[in-house]
Amino acid sequence: MVSKHTGRLELTWTDKEKTLLSTGDGQYDYTFVDPSDYRVSEVRLLHAVDRVEAPTPEGRPEDLPEPTDDNLLITGDAMHALDALAKIPEYSEKYLGKVKLVYIDPPFNTGQAFTNYEDNIEHSIWLTMLRDRLRQILPLLARDGSIWVHLDDVEVHRCRAVMDEELGPENFLAEVVWQKATSPRNDTTGFSVSHDSLLVYRKTDQWSPNRMKRLASSNTSRYRSRDGDPVPWRDGDATAGKAATNHPMVYAIQHPVTGGLMYPTPGRCWGKAQSWFLDQMNEYAKYELRDIGDEERRAVICGTTPDEVRAGVPAIMLAEPLEDAAKSARARHEAGQWPDLVFLDLNKERLQRKKHLADEGRVPETLWFASDVGGSLRGKNQIRDLFPDLHAFATPKPEELLQRVIHIATDPGDIVLDCYAGSGTTAAVAHKMGCRWVTAELLPATVSRYTKPRLTRVVKGDDPGGVTTSSERVAAAALPDGVTPDEAQEFNRLLNKVANGQGDLDTDTLKALRKLTKTKVETSTLWHGGGGFTHLEVGPSMFEDVDGMVLLADWATQGELAEAMCAQLEVTYAPDGIFAAKEGTVRYVVVDGLVGESTVRSILDQLPDGQIVEVWATQVADGAADLLRKERKGSRLEAIPDSVLDRYRRKASNGSPFKKEKTSE
Ligand SMILES: C[S@@+](CC[C@H](N)C(=O)[O-])C[C@H]1O[C@@H](n2cnc3c(N)ncnc32)[C@H](O)[C@@H]1O
Repeated sequence: MVSKHTGRLELTWTDKEKTLLSTGDGQYDYTFVDPSDYRVSEVRLLHAVDRVEAPTPEGRPEDLPEPTDDNLLITGDAMHALDALAKIPEYSEKYLGKVKLVYIDPPFNTGQAFTNYEDNIEHSIWLTMLRDRLRQILPLLARDGSIWVHLDDVEVHRCRAVMDEELGPENFLAEVVWQKATSPRNDTTGFSVSHDSLLVYRKTDQWSPNRMKRLASSNTSRYRSRDGDPVPWRDGDATAGKAATNHPMVYAIQHPVTGGLMYPTPGRCWGKAQSWFLDQMNEYAKYELRDIGDEERRAVICGTTPDEVRAGVPAIMLAEPLEDAAKSARARHEAGQWPDLVFLDLNKERLQRKKHLADEGRVPETLWFASDVGGSLRGKNQIRDLFPDLHAFATPKPEELLQRVIHIATDPGDIVLDCYAGSGTTAAVAHKMGCRWVTAELLPATVSRYTKPRLTRVVKGDDPGGVTTSSERVAAAALPDGVTPDEAQEFNRLLNKVANGQGDLDTDTLKALRKLTKTKVETSTLWHGGGGFTHLEVGPSMFEDVDGMVLLADWATQGELAEAMCAQLEVTYAPDGIFAAKEGTVRYVVVDGLVGESTVRSILDQLPDGQIVEVWATQVADGAADLLRKERKGSRLEAIPDSVLDRYRRKASNGSPFKKEKTSE
């Protein structure tokens, strides 16, 4: 069928088809380049700088997650770091399709001049950068993973359109609003902005969030224990939707006291299997399944006719005289700790289901207050506490904010990635929560001043701030039913205020009220130190531009050249005699020099039977490539750098070296 409509919803911008290059190592200078440009296509090596580790402290509580040591801090451009993770086999084996959470807090396009990074790049530049990074991040994400992009109000609307394009609108999960400021800036001429946004997308529909821990201080007043059940509960619905498609779950339950028949309301069915309802009712009296020929009544509830409704669905009926049943039901009610199927009033024909407090947890919500997760100021103070002698890093996020993100999106042991590390908040919190992590930061000065010392202190157990400990107000003794610790504390505070100086008040009553509402703050330590990380840096380019000609850089010789070439070919560098790598039946040889017919013959002499060879050489003599092809079919000889650059051009022919990945399967 020919579609009535053409075109698609998308955001366009200047040079959208180009790729963005943050030129120069370790500094900002953004330029649009052709997608085949070697400066964006080249896979850079990652060089080890340092290893930081510490033993797990003895005597830490056993229920805390194990410290992780398989973590990477990378100094360098996010573009190169992500490319290396996805394409160099040593890393891609660990990270490709395995990252559970990506949180990025890229430089905002606010035009503000921060001390630590420039932010005045225009919308198109910013969007191209973001789009390219999303394309690199997507293959790294696990199918049950999610990506969280932290933004202010300058780009959030455009960014969401781009994320829809790259990840699919069906994978949009939420726009979380984080209250970053609690008091207005009165020096602004328009509005004082109090929030940032976090756009959250999943990779596929396999993603599911962890629920939020219910705090002792949260509003749980609906949960009570009116039957002496050790776990507080509230009365929930015993029915569920939809009767129309669940005829076997629509039937009568006879009331043990009145003898009346209880049905779900029209359109609904009982919320669990009939065997469960029978077991529950048997706690009140003796019951059995019996066909009572109630097709007409069931048909009304199911929205169908008596002929169409499922025939013979039995009712749950008393199997003893009503008088005996009523007696036994009353005795059961008085005994307390009622079954999960409850009658709040045994004389009413209304069934409810207990919803226990522990069962539920809170689903994550989209409005995050500074009082819960900290605001910008708390983030700054946390860095100031760590580095009192340094000028504070401009935009650190509070650890509690990341703790909530990581809690919702991961479990201990999962991999968390942040390629705009800044002061390293994401990695620090991921480490404290027992996750594995990879983080990259462009500016070496930021890494050496903030990121690395901070993460080192986390590993050494020398960072008492942030989420290392957590405090919660709890009841000092049992509080009156339905009163939360925060409410009790507030009551106590007001009571003292009101009673102050009122000598004629009854002191015994005051004392009793204070005692009844006494609370205390309980502090627990989440992090004790341990684990480790490897510090890597993005290596220099293997090419250099001399008067418009792309030549090999001076350092790219011999073994170094071979290793860099293996990265371009996306094979594991594993030198073995003349061979630099092997994959399946293909061997790779990288020659820093001229390959003529005699070199070809000597390579062929050493090539095992049944294998073919790819030879990459800085110079190729006439006839050598033909000889190799002829002597071992499927083998080839290529010139560095020309054939490498051709390879980039071929790969980029789809418009970007960072291909768009299909997300919805
Ligand atoms: C908004 S800050 C991140 C702050 C961080 N979330 C924290 O809590 O400290 C953005 C960081 O991204 C870094 N950055 C900018 N461009 C980058 C690039 N191309 N690759 C890696 N990092 C980059 C900046 O130097 C800056 O430290």
